[in-house]
Amino acid sequence: MCGIVAYIGPKDATPFLLEGLARLEYRGYDSAGVAVAGRTGGIKLRKVKGRVADLAAAVPARFKGTTGIGHTRWATHGVPSDENAHPHLDNAERIAVVHNGIIENADELRARLSAEGAIFRSETDTEVLSHLIAAHATEGVELEEAVRAALGKVVGTYGIAVLDAEQPDRIVVARNGSPIVLGIGEKEMFAASDVSALVRYTRQVVHLEDGELAVVRADGFRTFTEDARTTHRQPSTVDWEIDSYDTGGFEHFLLKEINEQPGSVERTLGGRLDERFATAHLGGLNLDARELREIRRVKILGCGSAYYAGEMGAQLIEELSRIPAHSEPASEFRYRNPVIEADTLYVAVSQSGETYDTLAAVQEIKRKGGRVLGVVNTVGSAIARECDGGIYLHAGPEISVASTKAFTSTVVAFALLALHFGRIHDLSPADGRRIVSALKALPDQIREVLDQSDAIAELAAEYAKSAGMMFIGRVRGFPVAREGAQKLKEISYVHAEAYPASELKHGPLALISPELPTVALVPDDELLDKNLTTLGEIKARSGRVIAVAHRRPEEKLADHCILVPKSEPELDPLLLNIPLQLLAYHAAVALGRDVDKPRNLAKSVTVE
Ligand code: F6R
Repeated sequence: MCGIVAYIGPKDATPFLLEGLARLEYRGYDSAGVAVAGRTGGIKLRKVKGRVADLAAAVPARFKGTTGIGHTRWATHGVPSDENAHPHLDNAERIAVVHNGIIENADELRARLSAEGAIFRSETDTEVLSHLIAAHATEGVELEEAVRAALGKVVGTYGIAVLDAEQPDRIVVARNGSPIVLGIGEKEMFAASDVSALVRYTRQVVHLEDGELAVVRADGFRTFTEDARTTHRQPSTVDWEIDSYDTGGFEHFLLKEINEQPGSVERTLGGRLDERFATAHLGGLNLDARELREIRRVKILGCGSAYYAGEMGAQLIEELSRIPAHSEPASEFRYRNPVIEADTLYVAVSQSGETYDTLAAVQEIKRKGGRVLGVVNTVGSAIARECDGGIYLHAGPEISVASTKAFTSTVVAFALLALHFGRIHDLSPADGRRIVSALKALPDQIREVLDQSDAIAELAAEYAKSAGMMFIGRVRGFPVAREGAQKLKEISYVHAEAYPASELKHGPLALISPELPTVALVPDDELLDKNLTTLGEIKARSGRVIAVAHRRPEEKLADHCILVPKSEPELDPLLLNIPLQLLAYHAAVALGRDVDKPRNLAKSVTVE
């Protein structure tokens, strides 16, 4: 949510800043801006409402400087506008600041700074930082000292980068709840909120910790804490491939990421299946078999699609290990003074590892003495670091705002966890082997579904203009329906409702008409007959039905059918979900939507 980039070195900063912002645009895209400083003195600033491409068009050729910062925004305080776009300047136009996060005491600081003469030009909380830092940047004070002193007065979360026209030989960055990563180049240095902006330039990075600041110069950096203690940070190497950050010939990142799923699932499984004992090896759990046997319940927490993946995970855990498991939105959990139990295992799910509500839930559990595992894609992210152990997805970077490959890998990670739990409890070796072979078969089965993309595109084009869509599924199929409806709403803006198929006749059947088609999950399992009865009820009300099924239902029960290869019943939801990703994608394309950057949204929701 919002992206930050910064550069200092011998070259002109602007091309890097603009390219870096374009790579971070998935994090927020309602306005963007850059500021540079150089030997000629003063700060040059351009910021516009709109996309990074609009900013690039507004930046004149003479806009040059060897030190610079940039930002792409997802509005929290104030509407998207030129004035509210970052960077923000103080009144003397000496200090420029870009910021991710929320300053909670912004009103109080604004009142105090205004009384001292500061004139505010935006509605943002960020602008208080530029005035506050400027107030501390008195004669002879180093920029890093001014920033440190100013942050001492701030309550809230931030990742910031600060530029000073009078000290253009440095940039100061700081992190508290919103990521900042330094990139180490050859006689040049970079900083960003996300490595995706840096990988073209360097693989050597340093992730700042919460409460840490860095002063960055062309030839190196120094990190220190809010109370001025120097810290010693060793660079790590980014191992994600550079081409993960390009569309690689696909029309959209979303389509690329949907198509990457056979490979990303292979990576999630990589080295974790133990054929001899028909179980899974999960080295990062930091819990031995004895400790795992003491667990009486599993509570899974995540937001949005991560929560729905958690619902699939809860079913897998209950089915394979018979340990009661339940998924809840982390955003609700943290506000209800949750009861934390010693024999409950808490599992936080997050692709980004940054989602604030999930992070806050983890912190609340840990504060009360609970044990939390993370199922996270981004290595070293805030949630991963906060958890006691966990499973990394290794799905690779997910750039499109809507989650697809990380969703699938999360469910695979839960299948591994459920298998591991199950084999410690009462899951038989034969059942363990059944799940191991089914997991190994998934990548090829996903390929089979992906091969139907063209046919699904035709269906999507036919139905995209519907007033809305109903998604239904029973038990294992219900989280699939929820995720399918979420994906459609999110990227095509077509209203969609997900219901347990069994609940239809308790109310929503009244909605069924030819104008409201139903996508029905119809696996060939013990509930097949019940599902077919529901289809009959919909058809009897002239509803149109798209069945996603293992076997084609009779013609009178479904207008269309997308056939999905059969796995083991516990793993079927994972495959049934793939055509729904394609359906949402093609519907969004048919409607001309901005597929990778849907309106009002951003990747990584790092605010409450
Ligand atoms: C949906 C989507 C969101 C995220 C949610 C949690 O496609 O992307 O619902 O799943 O914001 O994000 P993470 O997993 O990064 O915590």
